[in-house]
Amino acid sequence: MILVRTCKMEAVRSLMKAAALANVPKHVDHFSKFSPSPLSMKQFLDFGSTNACERTSFVFLRQELPVRLSNIMKEVNLLPARLLSTPSVQLVQSWYIQSLMEILHFLDRNPDDQRVLEAFVEVLEAIRNRHNEVVPTMAQGVIEYKDTFGQQDVVTDHNIQYFLDRFYTSRISIRMLINQHTLVFNGNTNPAHPNTIGCIDSICNVTEVVQGKKEERESERKSERECGALFCFTPLANNIREPIHISYIPSHLYHMLFELFKNAMRATIENHETSRALPPIKVMVTLGGEDLSIKMSDRGGGVPFIKTERLFSYMYSTAPRPSLGDKHRGSLAEFGYGLPISRLYARYFQGDLQLYSMEGYGTNAVIHLKVLSTDSVERLPVFNKTTFRHYKLSLEADDWCIQGAAGLGCIPRFKVI
Ligand SMILES: Nc1ncnc2c1ncn2[C@@H]1O[C@H](COP(=O)(O)OP(=O)(O)OP(=O)(O)O)[C@@H](O)[C@H]1O
Ligand SMILES: [Mg+2]
Repeated sequence: MILVRTCKMEAVRSLMKAAALANVPKHVDHFSKFSPSPLSMKQFLDFGSTNACERTSFVFLRQELPVRLSNIMKEVNLLPARLLSTPSVQLVQSWYIQSLMEILHFLDRNPDDQRVLEAFVEVLEAIRNRHNEVVPTMAQGVIEYKDTFGQQDVVTDHNIQYFLDRFYTSRISIRMLINQHTLVFNGNTNPAHPNTIGCIDSICNVTEVVQGKKEERESERKSERECGALFCFTPLANNIREPIHISYIPSHLYHMLFELFKNAMRATIENHETSRALPPIKVMVTLGGEDLSIKMSDRGGGVPFIKTERLFSYMYSTAPRPSLGDKHRGSLAEFGYGLPISRLYARYFQGDLQLYSMEGYGTNAVIHLKVLSTDSVERLPVFNKTTFRHYKLSLEADDWCIQGAAGLGCIPRFKVI
């Protein structure tokens, strides 16, 4: 294990040298001056179906990918130095540098040359594979940081949370662009899914995806523990029971539902350890003019209201810690990232994920998605002066009184101005 780590760190160091020689910092400065260009679901669909042109996509991506990569690479440098210097964060940074260098090679290549277009697809696929482990590796960096330096102050915690939300959103968006290009232009259309354009299903049957997840989790859990939980599924479309369709990315929807079912099931089982029967987890899907909403309700005892926002923190989980070298580490299970990452998926196309808990009873988790493909527009972080200000937040005095340790009759306290 230690040997593997040393080799990786050696590789990181030699890549940093190569990056300096290739003037990567200069390129990062240059491309980070551009704002990323958000695309709507409709643009993704139109481009992939009617006028799909590999040359146009290539020319767009060889500029847009460096812009998205560079914007977030600049922001990484605003992280606390001690987090930046952890081996895991260094490794992630080296992946970003390498991928940027690989794309930059295409800047002066001829877009009319078919071999260039083919080589580009290969490079994109290699980048996608290289970045497979970014989320658990970054999570490992946060754990290394917490283990070495202990509990951090509120400002540091806020900055890490703010950064990771933006970093993971950027990663989702970069993978979206890569997936669309490689899937649309690899020439293999899937006859089983004629409505699929890249990774988007233009008539994604939401109720079917929910059903699929329900059955999958049910059988998984049954084999884990031999007790049968009941799941009640209630699809409602304007009070008519019929399939509900929107244009969406099924894998994103799967991810969110998987995490919500996992949480609901864990809470239900833990809260009814001594009961013979488990209360059902209910799912309701509703469709309006603007929003498609999915509500999952459990009777797992809920969480105190004051803790709700903390559940979306990357620094907090009540599940057991994943051990180093765990073969399933890449699956992200038990890093405590289920809710925060799912919320990013929902927000990526202007939706949201919210938790309404009633302590002592249970939890409603609600996913909101946009119905119209023109409203589903990528939500992307941009590196600018406002970003700086977010990280420079200092510990200011609260303008609401906080009850001190002393009670009645204590000495008057001076104000912190
Ligand atoms: N439906 C729920 N009922 C009660 N508590 C919940 C529910 N959903 C989430 N929680 C609480 O929120 C915490 C954070 O959830 P989250 O899914 O982000 O991480 P996790 O479940 O701890 O780990 P992971 O999902 O990565 O395996 C959980 O540890 C749990 O304490
Ligand atoms: Mg979870």
